[in-house]
Amino acid sequence: MQILDGKKAAQAIRDELKIEVAQLNAEGKKIPHLAAVLVGNNGASTTYVAAKVKACEEVGFKSTLIHYEDTISETKLLDKIREMNNDPDIDGILVQLPLPKHFSDEEVINAIDPDKDVDGFHAINVGNMVQGLPTYVPATPHGIMLLLEHYKIDTQGKHAVVLGRSNIVGRPVSILLSGNTNPGNCTVTLCHSRTQNIASFCRQADIIVAALGKPEFVTADMVKEGAIVIDVGITRVEDSSRKSGFRLKGDVDFENVAPRCSWITPVPGGVGPMTIAALMKNTFRSCLQKN
Ligand code: GUN
Repeated sequence: MQILDGKKAAQAIRDELKIEVAQLNAEGKKIPHLAAVLVGNNGASTTYVAAKVKACEEVGFKSTLIHYEDTISETKLLDKIREMNNDPDIDGILVQLPLPKHFSDEEVINAIDPDKDVDGFHAINVGNMVQGLPTYVPATPHGIMLLLEHYKIDTQGKHAVVLGRSNIVGRPVSILLSGNTNPGNCTVTLCHSRTQNIASFCRQADIIVAALGKPEFVTADMVKEGAIVIDVGITRVEDSSRKSGFRLKGDVDFENVAPRCSWITPVPGGVGPMTIAALMKNTFRSCLQKN
């Protein structure tokens, strides 16, 4: 069993970006600027947004964090998005999801200029991705593809079973893995909450992508010997022995599944850092298009 080390692969991407930003600086060109919007005080969202801002600092990007109380109106948020769409200094805009219940995620996401939608959630960018056209690919699926590429994992003709059909991970990763690309060219089965006998699909999988948000859902008896397992889960579970009061659990029972795998991602340190690296890559790309 070998580890798909997202920390290492993400560091390699950030190191490359640092060099490219230094080059932009040396040429007197504009450096990438990411604007992140957080609404409310959800603990996990606050942590993720802070990590994105920190990653910007590390690679030399500019960043702006806009934090609203969850009582702000959708109109106010939409006004801010329009203002940022028209700000030539801002290359990338992300609105951290989930938004509080009184917002329409779709209306907010589709208000972002598709050319600044570095999360790749805008309907135009999703459409481009489905058609295999160049676009911003959502950060987590993009990060997974970059991780497979980094470790030169041969996915051609393999059966990939994706667990979860969210717009953020499951659905886009199923599209990317089935694309005529490398990595890609998989035969994909997308399982979800209404799928009957998920375990029987998993047992046929050469690659499992677990993105359903259920801690330790994938157990050893569901995994074929030699499978590649990508764990996207990051559920906070109480742990009074930790200063934070919680620890992160993946969707895979790592301890018992890992010995059966050819490759597996750890949690934390697998997909999480790759998500942020992919977001940085998307933001850099947006900036280059303006430079
Ligand atoms: N919530 C969970 N994942 C993501 C992500 O990749 N981007 C945004 N904006 N919100 C998220």
